[in-house]
Amino acid sequence: MIDKQTKELKLQFCKYGQEHVFKFWEILSNEEQLQLLQQAKNLNLDYLSKIIESVLHENSQPAQADKSAASITPAKFIKFPNSEVDWQKWKETTAIGEQVIKDGKVAAFTVAGGEGTRLGCVVPKGTLQATPLKKKSLFQIFAEKIKAAERKYETSIHWIIMTSERTHNETIEFFGKNDSFGIENTHFIKQGQMPAITYDGKIIMETKSKIAMHPDGHGGALKALGRSGLLAMLEDFGVEIISYFQVDNPLARCIDPYFIGSHVKNQSQVSSRMIRKLYPEEKVGVFCEIRGKNCVVEYSDLTKEQAMLRDATGNLIFCAGNTGTHLLDVPFIKQFNGKDIHSEIPYHVSQKAIPTVDSLGEPISPQAPNGLKLEMFIFDILPFAERTIILESDRLSNFSPIKNSDGLDSLKTCLQDQLKLFTSWLLAAGTDIPTDANGMPPFDIEISPMFADNKHDFLTKWERLATKPTIAANQYIE
Ligand code: UTP
Repeated sequence: MIDKQTKELKLQFCKYGQEHVFKFWEILSNEEQLQLLQQAKNLNLDYLSKIIESVLHENSQPAQADKSAASITPAKFIKFPNSEVDWQKWKETTAIGEQVIKDGKVAAFTVAGGEGTRLGCVVPKGTLQATPLKKKSLFQIFAEKIKAAERKYETSIHWIIMTSERTHNETIEFFGKNDSFGIENTHFIKQGQMPAITYDGKIIMETKSKIAMHPDGHGGALKALGRSGLLAMLEDFGVEIISYFQVDNPLARCIDPYFIGSHVKNQSQVSSRMIRKLYPEEKVGVFCEIRGKNCVVEYSDLTKEQAMLRDATGNLIFCAGNTGTHLLDVPFIKQFNGKDIHSEIPYHVSQKAIPTVDSLGEPISPQAPNGLKLEMFIFDILPFAERTIILESDRLSNFSPIKNSDGLDSLKTCLQDQLKLFTSWLLAAGTDIPTDANGMPPFDIEISPMFADNKHDFLTKWERLATKPTIAANQYIE
């Protein structure tokens, strides 16, 4: 089966040095040929070849070229409140944010299209059970936070969930089975895909008839929002701010009036939440300034000397760790809509072990990296904004991602962090819970986001309880 269209397509691939994609064409079944044709047709070879050129020759990367160590200075940030005056300002700023939420101007946006390879997750990460007692899924946790905000502020909040080819159907099914957790306005948008490439820029074949594709990174959110028409729809709904957070961090405060108030007060176009790095080698991106613009520098791009630098009081100088939580101004991100955003936002490469085929078409499952994944990162829009803010937050109340199957940033550490957090609120409320040196209680407890998702709200609500529960093992507060 080879018609005119196929011939032309093959010629196109040949023109871009990718003719090997059709290497096994003659021995493919009709069905396999159709599958390959479909995939091949959907690739924009011109766009792809420009990206390949730019990532393989780093100097032609749009924003990357600037990230030489010498040009990097630490970013300035709004410090965590530390005095009476600060807390007074916190109150005023929070009130501004609360009004904006009440007015329906904030939408929640979860990016949930990642592959979760470090975790070895075969189901969408959002469906993972992630609370100590009730084993709520990550999606349920966020749904309850959104629901609680809807109730508190008597408003309705649009919730956008970005999925990928791999996570889309299962995510929608999961929401369906759970009646969307009671959230009325959920919107699912599918992010784009990119082919994996070899170190010399050749498209990798996963099988004889299938190109190895992967999601285009959380920065793909910008394209997905525009392409899906959702950005325009949100504008029609009167949404001005998108609260962006990652599905693997159940501590993310998805609707935080103080963060939102700070964003509005500063007329910020992109606001980011930071936590202080714990130690120089911690593997988090760091907010930095390059030529007067805020950006995120990956931990591997800071020199060892920079990462270790400390001030006179012993604090790390490059301390502003990225939590992957941002507020995006809708009119600002609209400018990326429909544009070839790669001409502005760079692709990043990461080395991966990518299942492929040998020269005879036999499957290979490499144990070591054999190719490159191409991804865009959301934080790369920072340098394009005129006004940005970076807000310091307390780590335990905001950040404990589930990235790895064990060790640091695993489900185990996240559950421990939740227990420590809940315990710290209960202790602040005057209850008596024995804890170890790390602040861990001797038993499991859980506080529902429907009761509170932060200390301030917890204390207010706890105070109002007519009968306060005795805290013991398996206590659930809802
Ligand atoms: P990570 O960068 O941690 O990637 O994503 P990941 O895919 O979840 O995990 P690994 O690297 O394969 O182990 C941070 C957040 O961005 C989302 C993820 O779902 C997670 O919420 N993400 C990442 C996307 O939505 N799309 C992507 O293409 C990549």
